[in-house]
Amino acid sequence: MSKSSVTPSFNDENSNTSGNPSFDEVLAGRLGRRQILQAAIAASGAGLVTATTAATPAPGATPGAKAGGQTLLGFKAVPKSIADKVLVPEGYTAQVIYALGDPLDKDTPAFRNDGSDQSFERRAGDHHDGMEWFSLSANGRPSRTYAARGLLAVNHEATTDEKLTSFFIHADGGKASLPRPAAEADKEIAIHGLSVVEVQAAGGKWSYKQDSRFNRRITPDTEVELHGPVRGSQHAVTRFSPDGTRARGTINNCGTGKTPWNTFVSGEENWFGYFNRGAKDDEVRGKGSIEVLGLQRYGRNAGAPSRHGWETAGADDRFARWNISQTGASARDDYRNEMNTFGYVVEMDPYEPETKVRKRTALGRFAHESVSFAKPVSGEPIVAYMGDDARGEYIYKFVSDAKWDPRDANPGNRLAAGDKYLNKGTLFVARFKYDGSGEWIELSPRNPILAVNPGFEFKTDADVCVYTRLAADIVGATRMDRPEWSGVNPKNGEIYFTLTNNSNRTPADVDAANPRAYVDQKDGKPQRGNVNGHIARVADGKPAAKAFRWDVFVFGAEAGSDASKVNLSNLTDANDMSSPDGLVFSQATGLCWIQTDDGAYTDKSNCMMLAAMPGRVGDGAKRAVSYEGADGNVVKTVETFVGKELGETHLKRFLVGPRDSEITGWCETPDGRAIFINIQHPGENTKMADVANADKFTSQWPANAGYGAGKRPRSATIVITRNDGGVIGA
Ligand code: FEO
Ligand code: CA
Ligand code: CA
Repeated sequence: MSKSSVTPSFNDENSNTSGNPSFDEVLAGRLGRRQILQAAIAASGAGLVTATTAATPAPGATPGAKAGGQTLLGFKAVPKSIADKVLVPEGYTAQVIYALGDPLDKDTPAFRNDGSDQSFERRAGDHHDGMEWFSLSANGRPSRTYAARGLLAVNHEATTDEKLTSFFIHADGGKASLPRPAAEADKEIAIHGLSVVEVQAAGGKWSYKQDSRFNRRITPDTEVELHGPVRGSQHAVTRFSPDGTRARGTINNCGTGKTPWNTFVSGEENWFGYFNRGAKDDEVRGKGSIEVLGLQRYGRNAGAPSRHGWETAGADDRFARWNISQTGASARDDYRNEMNTFGYVVEMDPYEPETKVRKRTALGRFAHESVSFAKPVSGEPIVAYMGDDARGEYIYKFVSDAKWDPRDANPGNRLAAGDKYLNKGTLFVARFKYDGSGEWIELSPRNPILAVNPGFEFKTDADVCVYTRLAADIVGATRMDRPEWSGVNPKNGEIYFTLTNNSNRTPADVDAANPRAYVDQKDGKPQRGNVNGHIARVADGKPAAKAFRWDVFVFGAEAGSDASKVNLSNLTDANDMSSPDGLVFSQATGLCWIQTDDGAYTDKSNCMMLAAMPGRVGDGAKRAVSYEGADGNVVKTVETFVGKELGETHLKRFLVGPRDSEITGWCETPDGRAIFINIQHPGENTKMADVANADKFTSQWPANAGYGAGKRPRSATIVITRNDGGVIGA
């Protein structure tokens, strides 16, 4: 998320008008139409719960919990903070190692950080997001175990911008109107995408290696390959690739994953916002056509302005491609299909800088976050879990056709292994039921509901992989509270899904898996819906299982808020949080690391990272959440399943970030003694007009932590180690 409270957000998409009120049939059966309407009326009135924030003493140290003989969470919880710095527990050190603009070869000059820098295709990109670690051996070969040298593969999701311009990278803030200057557009395009950077530890100190042969940038201009069902289909034909097999770049890369064959995968999230579509394009394409329905369902109504106006920066193809209006005689003559080449999971081999990125279209097209792989089982399919991050979107899983061969854990050609497991398979979408069970519904032309759907028959896998959301709407998937990252608990295989928040959720449409809709005050203004988010948890069956069980691991809330309706997990000052987003399990310790991207609780604390000891689905209890009408009478009760209360022994705040930053990206060295995380968009609420006035920046991090030139705030990777060299989180 970025600047959501300041400018219209391109990061909180809201185009699910499918009318899939989750379990509406069940709900209607229980409550009757009239009560649902009453609840809807109550939602807009005064009868709602109002959460308050209680002032309570600073948290103290609590004893750690034991897991497998190892004491975990033994550190003292970090207090909430609005200071412009990174806070970590006593005994830990955080160090900045890789920030926006850092040069990635010996010929690129040091970053001046005053808006005069060029050559961003050879520098670290902006808005560091998801990130994975790839060990290198002492002699620079791929390794699974080496802990002192490795590659970080990093997403550069977006930029800090206001009115079209990424103002911190332009000396005067840039031109905030159309047409955009080509030189500014080129810089802005180049700070998106991916990077690979080598890092190493020497004498207990980490640094990145500026001249490593592995250092690499992928930008939205870099040629990539389409793979899977969309490759070569009519949906992907463009002027750049008349046969629909190639495309350019990747954009708005958010969450990540690491494949069982040791490559990097990255999800394209809010890609649609970068495209401009003409006001008359519905008529040109044909109102009601599948193309128009698809464009609307993916957030591009006719006349939609683009986030940066790059399509106005000149006639060159690298700018023209951002205008997706139908203008030519055929799809080979324009970029009407350009947006169909985005919205995928992309795979990169960080060890092989010469290989192209491959878009794995079989995993569907939506606002992808992370990709979490179940532990592979010999002779069974590969399974990956994914969320679609927008209000009311869905949770998916992909099951490969190919069965896992353990020899592929260290293949000679890693991307060929990707071809084998990620190009052919079946997508499923989740329906969460009231009894704590759930169902995976197949999204393919083999599902008769899709094959004979009136209006648009899904005839091919490519149809499903381009119009995935439309297919999921039709089969009645459950609309979730913005599915962000997921993670697989290495101890028992259960999958955790962060549901970051949902301002659209009302008491009328709460359901068992998304049971909260309430009002919370921030700076005297009411915020509505599922304000603080929650983390759902799924126990899946065998790889091809159609059924699962679920509960809610933890509900985000402010300490002191109503324990019967908001603070259902009884969070305290040592572990209260809002808007869980990043979520990764440590392979070294089994801890579940939770990161926030919040705008609701930032009056009391900057975004943060917490560590949790996971339990198991069903370790808690059923809970009822009631909703009252204006007269105080209960008009609706929804039952949910809340995991066992974690308390301060099983959930602790580990880190708080600088002002206006989001905490994201998490990876570790194989020995668990160093973790890397990303500080995204510090100071993002700075006004463009103040771009040359450092005193008015809302953050001066990481300059104020002693890193780099200039005071403009920069997204950056930090490494966290323990002063005694111990395992992180113990
Ligand atoms: Fe890029 Fe949904 O976070
Ligand atoms: Ca509040
Ligand atoms: Ca995210």
